[in-house]
Amino acid sequence: MSISRGFVVMGAVYLVVGIVFGAYMGGSGDHTLAPVHAHINLLGFTLMTVFGIGYRVIPGLAEGTMPKVHFWLHQVGVLLLLLGLFLMMTGRVAEATIGPVFPVLEGAILLGAVLWLVNVIRHA
Ligand code: HEM
Ligand code: HEM
Repeated sequence: MSISRGFVVMGAVYLVVGIVFGAYMGGSGDHTLAPVHAHINLLGFTLMTVFGIGYRVIPGLAEGTMPKVHFWLHQVGVLLLLLGLFLMMTGRVAEATIGPVFPVLEGAILLGAVLWLVNVIRHA
């Protein structure tokens, strides 16, 4: 699977999850998990779709290993960050337990974004 397709398809998966989450919040009136919903849609759907389109339309951007590293850093970082946030905000995992893991996951997403930046400066 190409990096572009991978990002766009995963973005669409996050969009469906994000909408279901949002609809549940709207229906139940319980907006406690709004930050989780927001970041499912933003880190998931929005960023992944932008990355996917970028890797498709900017010549040379998808070549080499950097895009693959970016893809996996973003996928693993976002999935675990959102899962962790959900578990913490619903009281299933204590903040003291999961808290120290967040900077690692944020670091992974940030490193992916820095690779994207370097790649975009080179090719865009
Ligand atoms: C049918 C789809 C959606 C529904 C039913 C929905 C529903 C909601 C609800 C009920 C809230 C909580 C509002 C509050 O407590 O202030 C919310 C917050 C939010 N939603 Fe959605 N949403 C949907 C789609 C989206 C999409 C597609 C995005 C982004 C691409 C998005 C981004 C956000 C953001 C950023 C917030 C946080 C706003 C804030 O905290 O001020 N939502 N949404
Ligand atoms: C690793 C990446 C990210 C981290 C750790 C992060 C963290 C946070 C935190 C801690 C808040 C405050 C939540 C609250 O107090 O309710 C927040 C809010 C927000 N972030 Fe992010 N964010 C990240 C990425 C992004 C991205 C990529 C976008 C947009 C594309 C975004 C858009 C927003 C918006 C719109 C809000 C306000 C909505 C809300 O309060 O839920 N964030 N973010």
